[in-house]
Amino acid sequence: MTIISPSILSLDFTQLNTQMEAVNASQAQWLHYDVMDGHFVPNLTFGPDILKAFRKLTDCELDVHLMITDPETYAPVFIKAGAQWLTFHYEAMENAEACRKLAKQLRQWGVKPGISIKPKTPVEVLKDLWQDFDLVLVMSVEPGFGGQQFDPSALEKIAQLRAWAQAENADLRIEVDGGINAETGKLCKQAGADVLVAGNYIFKNNIVDAVDSLC
Ligand code: DX5
Ligand code: ZN
Repeated sequence: MTIISPSILSLDFTQLNTQMEAVNASQAQWLHYDVMDGHFVPNLTFGPDILKAFRKLTDCELDVHLMITDPETYAPVFIKAGAQWLTFHYEAMENAEACRKLAKQLRQWGVKPGISIKPKTPVEVLKDLWQDFDLVLVMSVEPGFGGQQFDPSALEKIAQLRAWAQAENADLRIEVDGGINAETGKLCKQAGADVLVAGNYIFKNNIVDAVDSLC
């Protein structure tokens, strides 16, 4: 069963209640929340207070994607605000050991840790690291903006991760983010992804129908 995680980066905030009612009426099980700091990526988005507001607007699991240079400092803030899945970037960390340490801390704090790689980062960096995480997020666009085109090199990464996980009989969520629509979503599912993030495709179309077409 594929999990759909609508990205509120593309939500029309003048229509917040209506659009969230549609998300709640759809088959979406997660809600994707992009945190950008203007340093790790050249854009700014939302802090923890807005996440608290979304906690009240939906029962979807809150899937927080930190695109920030300092995840160690800000992770607890987003956990307090309601994050259930917390994903940080491999590229933001000093080394693999620091990634492992943060993953352990996130588990102790009661959330599921995720690690993400940008399109130019080879999947091999995760070969001895994915085991410490509940989720790997493969970016299929350069992080920072919605509405970009899907980079098909994500498909090989997804397939490699799924092969590693299957070889160890591990229950790993493989999530993909960027340029997902019905077509690219299907390719990702075939490659082994089980969580699809979509922003523009969901919020610029009929929300319930768009989610259905991704399931
Ligand atoms: C981009 C964000 C994505 C973004 C995806 O950096 O991480 O979550 O919302 O948007 P679409 O689906 O429009 O490519
Ligand atoms: Zn994202």
